[in-house]
Amino acid sequence: MKTNLVSRVALGFAVIAPLTISLSGTPVAQAADDAIKIGEVGSTTGSEATFGVATHQGVELAIKEINATGGVKGKKLQVILLDDQGKPEEAATAVTRLITQDKVVAIVGEVASSRSLAMAPIAQQYKIPMVSPSSTNPKVTEIGDYIFRVCFIDPFQGFVMARFASENLKFKRVAILRDVKNDYSVGLAKYFTETFKKLGGEIVVDQSYSAGDIDFKSQLTSIRGAKPDAIFVPGYYTEVGLIARQARSLGIKAPLLGGDGWDSPKLLQIGGKAMEGSYFSNHYSADDKAPHVQAFIERYRKAYKDTPSGLAAMGFDAMMVLSDAMKRAKSLSSADIRAALAATKEFQGVTGRISIDQQRNAVKSAVVLKVVNGTFVYDSTIRPG
Ligand code: PHE
Repeated sequence: MKTNLVSRVALGFAVIAPLTISLSGTPVAQAADDAIKIGEVGSTTGSEATFGVATHQGVELAIKEINATGGVKGKKLQVILLDDQGKPEEAATAVTRLITQDKVVAIVGEVASSRSLAMAPIAQQYKIPMVSPSSTNPKVTEIGDYIFRVCFIDPFQGFVMARFASENLKFKRVAILRDVKNDYSVGLAKYFTETFKKLGGEIVVDQSYSAGDIDFKSQLTSIRGAKPDAIFVPGYYTEVGLIARQARSLGIKAPLLGGDGWDSPKLLQIGGKAMEGSYFSNHYSADDKAPHVQAFIERYRKAYKDTPSGLAAMGFDAMMVLSDAMKRAKSLSSADIRAALAATKEFQGVTGRISIDQQRNAVKSAVVLKVVNGTFVYDSTIRPG
């Protein structure tokens, strides 16, 4: 068993400690015996560590609030988080362990589509409901009727950025640089291309890399030769930050465009000034003035001394949607939880109103954020349909 047990957090307690990463696998606290166990799988280490940490903090805040208001069916919830280190095979091991050893009633996770795709067949096989907070590749929920998500999917996200590039920015010629090792990146590049061409745009060069690469100069040199208006880079923050720096050092001034995989404070640490003026689509903006969003931000800041990212908001919403379904379910059997999840309608989340459709996806708006003076600034909202 290579999977690290990151934390076993018993959330029947009044005060929740901030995420305790115990690589030795020591339980942080033991649960009350009759707590309802929820499994969570995330990358709390590795090159996408901020995804797992931020999501877990959102999940933890939700659990704390649910337990403080009576729990579910008179019982407290307990979340058991396992770190997959950003590796699909570890995510598969983790979900198997949560189901067969810890006997969780439901799973929250993963963020990254490639890891959710490794977990979903196992959850489906054991008929344990799985709710991904933020995996956007369409294939994830197609795995089976126990697999749900509370976010939009990439055909929509690709449409959002293509329309934004074409209509808002008036761009005609875009280059693509995709991560071929990442299902999310490959899918999003494809959906962006489809809409951008429909809107009269041209993909002037299409290049690729593999997650973990650190030198992108040869791809960027051919992109520079094509003189694009922008470069669409639907990858994760570590590589995107490096790509931005190398693009600027090669004299490329065109902005980068991307998707939710950019959502990390590390993007700005790694990319620095090279990220200025670039845009990406996301699930939520901390600039949203809606009272329930600002109230969430305030509670989160109090708990973690940090502004919640989109991932934290999605983790919070995923846990809240799951507990709402468990409250409505006839019993806590997996079939009843599954049926209640499928019946979710107009749930008011931090990231928008969540209704689960026939394909077990949520249909929601996206926001476009711009990098300005080293922060993510709200630019616009694009609605589905
Ligand atoms: N949507 C990405 C995927 O499916 C994951 C992600 C979501 C990353 C939100 C960052 C923020 O792989």
